[in-house]
Amino acid sequence: MNENREKWGSRSGFILAMVGSAIGLGNIWRFPTVVGQSGGGAFILLYLLIIFGIGIPLMIGELAIGRRGKSNIVATFKKINPKGKWWITGVIGVTSGFVILSFYSVISGWVMAYIVKFISGEFNNLDTQEISHTYESLVSHPSVPLFWHGLFMVMVISIVMLGIHKGIEKTSKILMPILFAILLILVFRSITLEGAAEGIKWLFKPDWSLITIPTILSALGQVFFSLSLGMGTIITYGSYLNDSENIPYNSVIIAFSDVFIAIISAVVIIPAVFAYGVQPDVGMPLIFITLPLIFGALPLGNFFGTLFFILLLIASLTSGISLLQVVVAYFTETFKWSKKKASIITGFITFLMGIPSSLSTGLLENYTIFGEPILDFMDSLSSRILLPVGGLLTALFIGWVWKPKSTIEEMQKQDNKVPLGRQWSFVVKFILPVVLSYIIISGFF
Ligand code: TRP
Repeated sequence: MNENREKWGSRSGFILAMVGSAIGLGNIWRFPTVVGQSGGGAFILLYLLIIFGIGIPLMIGELAIGRRGKSNIVATFKKINPKGKWWITGVIGVTSGFVILSFYSVISGWVMAYIVKFISGEFNNLDTQEISHTYESLVSHPSVPLFWHGLFMVMVISIVMLGIHKGIEKTSKILMPILFAILLILVFRSITLEGAAEGIKWLFKPDWSLITIPTILSALGQVFFSLSLGMGTIITYGSYLNDSENIPYNSVIIAFSDVFIAIISAVVIIPAVFAYGVQPDVGMPLIFITLPLIFGALPLGNFFGTLFFILLLIASLTSGISLLQVVVAYFTETFKWSKKKASIITGFITFLMGIPSSLSTGLLENYTIFGEPILDFMDSLSSRILLPVGGLLTALFIGWVWKPKSTIEEMQKQDNKVPLGRQWSFVVKFILPVVLSYIIISGFF
């Protein structure tokens, strides 16, 4: 065992880093978009059900193996099961880290470009068409988005390089409170808009007819992405966790904060959308076209617009570092690279991997993979295949190889009573594998 391995400095540091990983573009951009497309209240209820029934049980298992292994994800699977081939799950995780971060960083780059546009007042008094044009000319530009993508990666690298304690934990402790404060200001602004009530009503009124198999699948995918499950992020963060921490209790706090922020983000966005008579189901352009239109029409719109995109940037930065940390932990421990070397090299590779995604909204617009532009393909590849496969293998490993008994033992290090232990075992052994296999199979069609 490596005695010098880093640990979280404090409980709040661990929780804020986990919440920082969980809260990202997935909550603030993707969740309101999916809710807008999949029928308000009913989707939210379904989402909650999946978070509590499936998301939290897997998070508990991932934290437990992480803490037991106290290593990067590949070594953790090897340590627990030296003879088997389960370490491949870790390899898939490291690969997914590169893939997800590469396109995540491209979108985060657009977010940074938008902050500058808002500050400079570029969106003042523009109509929808003009804003669409601004968006199109940004994302289709061959080099400007690459500059922002590169800058985002430089920020991620500079934080991860400093290590768990001085880098990730400290950044999360500073940035997460700012994120909550900004969100509070924006919620207040949105719900006091004239006509916002209709949006709130729509958001919480369940329309069950919209709950179809594809909606359920998208809710499942969203839960995985939003809680950072199935990729080794949680295992990695769990590996720095003290034995005195209560795993189930912390998991509930983290998942609950994540859902709460997702719903609050929908409360920021949807009423504003209704107040301005725009449809909530437009999908991706909602954030980059509809919102600037709305902010442009508000008094102090530039201020609120800037705040909103800073919020997005903070959210994506704390998620970005959690993605790179998985990769960096693997490279430092496997090849004995320094943190600095590992962060710079893997961060640079991620930057290179993001270039095709960045160009796919411009120069490479007509180039598709399985019928999708590269950026969308990377997104689908991760949320439909890589994360569910990673999640499935992890669940099978926890449920059938390591056995629920060991997870429960790991949890008992802190407290002898483990509530709902039997129900938890059932979910991990049976429900998770069935649901995840179903997601994977349907992902191919
Ligand atoms: N959870 C983040 C979001 O909601 C993204 C993210 C960070 C992630 N780490 C991850 C997604 C690991 C999947 C796996 O935006």
